[in-house]
Amino acid sequence: MELSSFPAMLIAIDGPAGAGKSTVARAVARALGFEFLDSGAMYRAAALAALRGDDPTRVRVTLGERVLLGDDDVTDAIRTPEVTEMASKVAADPAVREALVELQRRLIAEGDHVAEGRDIGTVVAPGAELKVFLTASPEERARRRAAQLGADPEAILVEQSIRDERDRMREHSPLKPAPDAVELDTTGLTLDEVVDRIVGLVR
Ligand code: CDP
Repeated sequence: MELSSFPAMLIAIDGPAGAGKSTVARAVARALGFEFLDSGAMYRAAALAALRGDDPTRVRVTLGERVLLGDDDVTDAIRTPEVTEMASKVAADPAVREALVELQRRLIAEGDHVAEGRDIGTVVAPGAELKVFLTASPEERARRRAAQLGADPEAILVEQSIRDERDRMREHSPLKPAPDAVELDTTGLTLDEVVDRIVGLVR
C-alpha cells in the first residue's frame, strides 16, 4: 500500500548522534499533538537482541513510554555504551534495516508523527511533509551527550566520531540530508529556540 494513500502527516527529523534529535522531536510532537517515533530505539533493541544471541532481523519491538523487546522492558538496557556501539553495527545490515523500516512505515501510517533517526527523510518516508536535518558541531554534540550520561566529553567525542563515520559511510541508507531537508545547526541554540523554529516551519 502506498504511504501517500494515508492522511497521516509526518515530520522527519534526521541527523548525527547527539544533535538533540530525541529531545527536539519529543518536544515538537508534544507541541503539535503528534505521536513521537524514535527509530534509533528500534536499532538499539535489535542490537540488544544480537548481543543476547538472538536474530536481530526477527525482533518484536514495541515503542511507547517504555521500550519492549518481546515482553521484556529494555528501556534502560538499550542505552548502555555496549548497545550504542552494537546498534550502529547492526544498523549497517540491510536485512535488519528492511525489517525495521517496514515496522516504522506501518507505525507512521497510523497517525500524525514526528519521527527521528538517520534515514527517515531519505528512505523510510521520502514523502514526509517536513524534513529537518539537525546538526551541531561535534564538540557541542559530545558535550551534550556527556552531560546527559555523566560521562567524559573527550571519550564520548571519540566514540561518537567512530559511530558518525560508520553511519555516514555505510552502503545502505547512509546518514545524509534529504535533498529537500531543512538543515538546522543547533550549536548555541536552546531547546526552545530549536522547537519554535521547527513548529514555525510546520505552520
Ligand atoms: O541517540 P543517538 O543519536 O546516539 O543514537 P540513536 O538515534 O538511538 O541510534 C543508534 C544507532 O542506530 C545509530 O548510530 C545508527 O547507526 C542507527 N540508526 C539508524 O541506522 N537509522 C535510524 N533511523 C536510527 C538509528
